[in-house]
Amino acid sequence: EKGNFRHFMAKEMHEQPEVVSHTLAHYLDLAAETVQLPGKLPFDIATLDRVSIAACGTAYYAGLVAKYWIERIARIPVEIDVASEFRYREAPLAPGGLMIVISQSGETADTLASLRYAKACGQHVLAVVNVPTSTIAREADVVVPTLAGPEIGVASTKAFTCQLATLAALAVLAGRERGTISTDEERRLVHALVEVPRLMNEALKLGPQIEQIARTFAKAQDVLYLGRGTSYPLALEGALKLKEISYIHAEGYAAGELKHGPIALIDEKMPVVVIAPHDPVFEKTMSNMQEVAARGGRIILLTDETGRRAAGFETEATLVLPDMDPLIAPLVYAIPVQLLAYHTAVQMGTDVDQPRNLAKSVTVE
Ligand code: M6R
Repeated sequence: EKGNFRHFMAKEMHEQPEVVSHTLAHYLDLAAETVQLPGKLPFDIATLDRVSIAACGTAYYAGLVAKYWIERIARIPVEIDVASEFRYREAPLAPGGLMIVISQSGETADTLASLRYAKACGQHVLAVVNVPTSTIAREADVVVPTLAGPEIGVASTKAFTCQLATLAALAVLAGRERGTISTDEERRLVHALVEVPRLMNEALKLGPQIEQIARTFAKAQDVLYLGRGTSYPLALEGALKLKEISYIHAEGYAAGELKHGPIALIDEKMPVVVIAPHDPVFEKTMSNMQEVAARGGRIILLTDETGRRAAGFETEATLVLPDMDPLIAPLVYAIPVQLLAYHTAVQMGTDVDQPRNLAKSVTVE
């Protein structure tokens, strides 16, 4: 039930500190300050040459964040596809490789077909799923569950952040097993993950400020979301969430792609959401933001305390989060991105939990 919330989506957004904490507790050994899977993996992460990922929609964006993490932390090349492409493109997969499928429902037709294709190619299939009794969970070689609990809102929120929590733990585990991170580094990353629920609670406090921004947002025709590094998938997720529930046209772009086309769209009417924690690519994103500002674009900046001080120019609004380890930024920044879509949709008066034309689980292709 919705409890005190007006929509399931609102309830599910607010549940995130708790369910992410629950999910992390499943994969972290806090006493030992290490990552620990409850069971043993049926393959050796240390000898993997390549990881493939397939998923749809928001789960795909979680996979895209994981690509950055796994490549950076564990130094394994990762290829990722939307499952509807993966299933038909006949990717050559060397036997013994790892395929990760990600799905909240565990019933998405294209993701299931990708799993079956990978299995036929002799891959070990690891499924990050939220519904433990689902078809994908049954058919995978190993299930790494997200413990988000039932997600009712069509717009995925808590399933996404629990997917990120699970995938971050997997990336750190892979790094340890492959010797690409030290014991100290593992400890540091585990500590960073432990901070997530508290930081998510901080992020939820931005609600009233975001509600104000949503008033002008609701009048926009189009919105652009920009980010670099792991904030790039967040930009894609922000745009998907906004179009899905508010029906406002939105696009997510890698900030560096701006001048390769989308900058032509920018005028005084166009809100541009810039997702920029103060991480190693922050300065680059700021120079893209400067280009938007110079063309009169209306910038909504999502950053942290250090980023706000360093940004040094006018925005229409700046949403400030606490400073945090770059590893965990996608989990925490997901919250303002979701809140912005939610409050805009509420302004528009759409059916937030059951947006038009959409189904919670896409079981036909
Ligand atoms: O159940 P799944 O995670 O496999 O679903 C994948 C997508 O259909 C889903 O994430 C969809 O994009 C959401 N409506 C996004 O909010």
